[in-house]
Order: sequence, then C-alpha cells, then structure tokens
Amino acid sequence: LFEAAIFDLDGVIVDTAKFHYQAWKRLAEELGFAFSEIENEQLKGVSRMDSLELLLRAGGITNLTRGQKEILASRKNEWYKEYLTTLTPADVLPGVARFLHHLRSSGIKTAIASASKNAPLILDKVNIGPLFDVVVDGNSIVKAKPDPEVFLQAARLLDAAPSACYVFEDAEAGVEGAIRAGMRVVGIGAEQLLARAHLTVTSFEQLEPVFLLSRIGVSDP
Ligand code: G6P
Ligand code: MG
Repeated sequence: LFEAAIFDLDGVIVDTAKFHYQAWKRLAEELGFAFSEIENEQLKGVSRMDSLELLLRAGGITNLTRGQKEILASRKNEWYKEYLTTLTPADVLPGVARFLHHLRSSGIKTAIASASKNAPLILDKVNIGPLFDVVVDGNSIVKAKPDPEVFLQAARLLDAAPSACYVFEDAEAGVEGAIRAGMRVVGIGAEQLLARAHLTVTSFEQLEPVFLLSRIGVSDP
C-alpha cells in the first residue's frame, strides 16, 4: 500500500543544491584549495557541520577548534542565504508542483524531510509549503542523514507506516537513510550515484505522474 510521499527539499523540490555547492566551493577557495562537483556529492543531504567536516578533510585541513569551525560554517551559511535571496517560485524543479497536486488529489499524504535549517525560509520563498501536510527539517531533528530519524519522524507525523512510504531523494546519504527507515526510495538524479534506490529518474518531468504511481503500485511488496 502506498499512503505517503516524503520528499527531500534541496535538489528534489527546489534547485538549491547548486547554491550549497557554490557556497562550499567559495569557502574551500578561501581556505586555499579547489573543491569539485564530484567531491560535493558526498555533502548532499548531510548536515551543515558534517558537511564542513567532509570539506575540511577534502582540503587536508586538520586541527581547527570547534569555535573556528562554527565561524566557517556560519560564513558558508551567510553566502548561501545571500544566494537564496534570488529564489522565486520559478526555482521549483520541473514537474514537482504537478506531481504534488496529483498525489494530493489521489489521497496520498505529503511531507518534507530535510536536513536544512533554512527549509522554512526556502518553502516560503518558492511558495510551495501548502502542498505539504508535514515539514520535518534540520530545526527539529538530532541525527542527520544517513540516520533514518528525519524520515521516521515524518512518517509518524503523517500517521503512516514506514513500509507505506515512498521517499524522493537526490543524495546518497538520503537514499541510505530512507532504506534504513524501511521505506521505498525513488532516486532523483544520476543512476550510478543513487544505485541503492529502488527506482531512479532524472527529474519528475521525465515521468507522467500516473505512470510513476502505477510503477510504485506494481513494485509494492
Ligand atoms: C540539505 C542539503 C545539504 C545541507 C543540509 C543542511 O540536506 O542537501 O547540502 O548541508 O541540508 O542545510 P542548511 O541549510 O541547514 O545548512
Ligand atoms: Mg537533497
């Protein structure tokens, strides 16, 4: 049975993954090293402080104090928020709004499960909040993806069994977290990066909503 659809935010609903990358790259350059888009894949879906740890490791920087790390993370976040000021409803990714409307009119409950503390700001700017029954974000969770906490909390608030939930994710850490939560996962992005997802599409636009729903129905255990 398919009762609920749980969506990651950055890179799934809104085209903000590029802004995260721009800001991390800027920080790396300021620290004196280059940071590639491939290296950035590991940061997707991961909390701000965990992302910083991965970035510093990539640059071979060790021995920073907690305080210094907090300063770097907030500098990255200031740049990121600067990039977000340009965000408009046009940055909702192709096919997303139509898919959400389709789910809701089919009686499927919808949630956001994001690691981001900026989620409320983003949802507000692109004006898509009302299409979700529940929002769980970085402000209300303790353990970051690949821990399943964010997905389990969304399912609990939706009153849906994990096995009746589908998760839509663009990050390896998110796919892993959803699997650990006992949910089915649709990867949004490159198949080789999201190899563990049950199904991968390059965008919502690639699929007719009805087709996706029937695929989901057919693949139910
Ligand atoms: C999402 C993004 C990550 C980001 C994390 C925390 O999961 O995919 O790239 O690091 O949220 O976001 P925040 O806006 O709180 O820094
Ligand atoms: Mg994401």
